[in-house]
Amino acid sequence: MDDLRDRYLGLIAEAGDEAGIEDLRVRALGKKGEISGLMKTLGGMSPEERQEKGPKLNALKTEIADALAARKASLADAALEKRLQTEWLDVTLPTRPARQGSIHPISQVTEEIVAIFADMGFSVAEGPQVESDWYNFDALNIPGHHPARAEMDTFYTHRAPGDNRPPHVLRTHTSPVQIRSMEANGAPIRIICPGRVYRADYDQTHTPMFHQIEGLAIGTDITMAHLKWVLEESLSAFFGTKVKTRFRASHFPFTEPSAEVDIQCSWQDGTVKVGEGDDWLEVLGSGMVHPKVLKNAGIDPEKYQGFAFGMGIDRLAMLKYGIPDLRAFFESDLRWLRHYGFAALDVPTLRAETV
Ligand code: PHE
Repeated sequence: MDDLRDRYLGLIAEAGDEAGIEDLRVRALGKKGEISGLMKTLGGMSPEERQEKGPKLNALKTEIADALAARKASLADAALEKRLQTEWLDVTLPTRPARQGSIHPISQVTEEIVAIFADMGFSVAEGPQVESDWYNFDALNIPGHHPARAEMDTFYTHRAPGDNRPPHVLRTHTSPVQIRSMEANGAPIRIICPGRVYRADYDQTHTPMFHQIEGLAIGTDITMAHLKWVLEESLSAFFGTKVKTRFRASHFPFTEPSAEVDIQCSWQDGTVKVGEGDDWLEVLGSGMVHPKVLKNAGIDPEKYQGFAFGMGIDRLAMLKYGIPDLRAFFESDLRWLRHYGFAALDVPTLRAETV
């Protein structure tokens, strides 16, 4: 019995994995195992012999079972220890940069401008981009023969053959939204109309699609002085610095009198700085809404008057963020993208050779 004990204890100590332990358990304690076999011999013994051998055999059985369990546990501990050492994770490592989308610069600037005018009591109005020639031209006092129609490089849609109505146009400015809003809501009115406009024009400072914001304020006693104050305040808020404006006499068919508005700026090494220096830069068109336009929109010009202005969002965005070429918006100028934190640019494997 002692031999048996020593042999099994030795084998158990050498067992290298769980399968080996199980194998030994079956060999010693299984139904046909060696120790189970010895237990069976107890039945054929004399009572005295059984009394002597019984407890010994039971103790042996318990000892072997305990040794098996202990070895099994220590093998499991060792396996866990090994995993812990090979599979460790440094939770203090910085995370990998995630690619993130971000708002388009034009949308951002539009939101900035809309927020400034919202503070002054202007609400947002919108209109269609495919517009009738009535809203885009006639209602704004631009009749069919008017040179302004040719100047605006209008995109026309096609009518079906035999349909002789004037074709629709891609709106050339946001001014038709003035008419639609006055028709719908009457006066008094104070609105700001951001949106896309289209002209057949393409060079460093012009793209066939660009963005404007129209402003309109109609009341019983609104004057050009209000216009000047509103523009100076809003442009100063937009550029984050006091911006002086200069009104130059001009002509728009839908305003009388009309003024083009310049802002104070300086040029240094080809870059422009707004709000300082003795140069001037044109940023928008404006004027007092023409009585004919009020009438066309169903408003009594004897009772109401007011101002309107239209400015290019792209131009203002370029000035604020120092982009020299308008096409940057369409050809993804990297300075723009960086300015707005496009993470993809900073992942080396995604960076183009030319960067
Ligand atoms: N609609 C004019 C343009 O696109 C701008 C403008 C708007 C001028 C309102 C005066 C009043 O050039």
